[in-house]
Amino acid sequence: MHHATALAHPNIAFIKYWGDLDPCLRLPANGSLSMNLDGLETRTQVSFDAALPADSLSVNGQEVSGAGLARVSELLERVRQRAGMRLPARVESENNFPMGAGIASSASAFAALALAASHAAGLRLSEAELSRLARTGSGSACRSVPGGFVEWQAGQQDEESYAFSIAAPEHWRLVDCIVLVSQAHKLVGSTEGHALALTSPLQAGRVADAPRRLDICRRAVCERDFAALAEVVELDSNLMHAVMITSTPPLFYWQPATLAVMRAVQAWRAQGLPACYTIDAGPNVHVLCPEEAVGEVASRLRRLKGVKQVLTVAPGGAARLAG
Ligand code: DP6
Repeated sequence: MHHATALAHPNIAFIKYWGDLDPCLRLPANGSLSMNLDGLETRTQVSFDAALPADSLSVNGQEVSGAGLARVSELLERVRQRAGMRLPARVESENNFPMGAGIASSASAFAALALAASHAAGLRLSEAELSRLARTGSGSACRSVPGGFVEWQAGQQDEESYAFSIAAPEHWRLVDCIVLVSQAHKLVGSTEGHALALTSPLQAGRVADAPRRLDICRRAVCERDFAALAEVVELDSNLMHAVMITSTPPLFYWQPATLAVMRAVQAWRAQGLPACYTIDAGPNVHVLCPEEAVGEVASRLRRLKGVKQVLTVAPGGAARLAG
């Protein structure tokens, strides 16, 4: 029996991935940039075992079959082919953050799976190779392989499309205040959403301008320039949601409380409090701020109507093997 256990953090994108060049390989339409989320993590154990009848998967103690298992098996198959072995695997995955709490688990899940499965199969992949492997399971998972602040270079083909760290977690004490306004499961998942992006007449413009936003964001992170970061992060999130709501069919992820948080954050920043928002494919809001401001920002967020809970999260490290 060959087994390994790996841990990975989810990440929050400052410049978003939305829409694919190639949906099978998950080659993105544009490059993206994110921060790993410390304290939140997926722990995944993979055991390749000749005694097993087939691949099987449990997530937080619950057996998963159907499409969820098929997606995991696809990544396992890539690993088996590369390692030249045919053994079925048992995959056991646990998140230390609640599912349906509005924090996407596919990024940390596929980053941990790529590392654990490749190691269990005896492969010793470079960080870029691991990032590419994780990407084939979930695009944003490629950004949970390296640590800290991470850029995913889009690339035109598989070999060129991977993520790398642009700054270590200690580089900048930014905080992500994760504002939960709803625990409801999202209606349209990211994979389906990506496939709709090109039905929006705005997607081409969003993608064409992405290299410019990426440059501004990379520079803002490298120079710890919060004012510049705030402007480009909100613009990028707004552009992605403009594409979502103008797709066919349209995707409206916001709830009234989502917009209330966005407006409050903009008003606070206009008054001099450093904070900005970004929103993924769901109703919850990620409010970024420098560590010095987190006491004030989090307490103001908790007083807003419709806010159920606020988690404060620091920049996190790379995916790693356990033990
Ligand atoms: C809105 O990586 O979740 O969070 O490859 O289908 O799993 P799949 O998509 P996924 O898409 C992420 C979408 C996003 C923006 C981002 O994280 O860049």
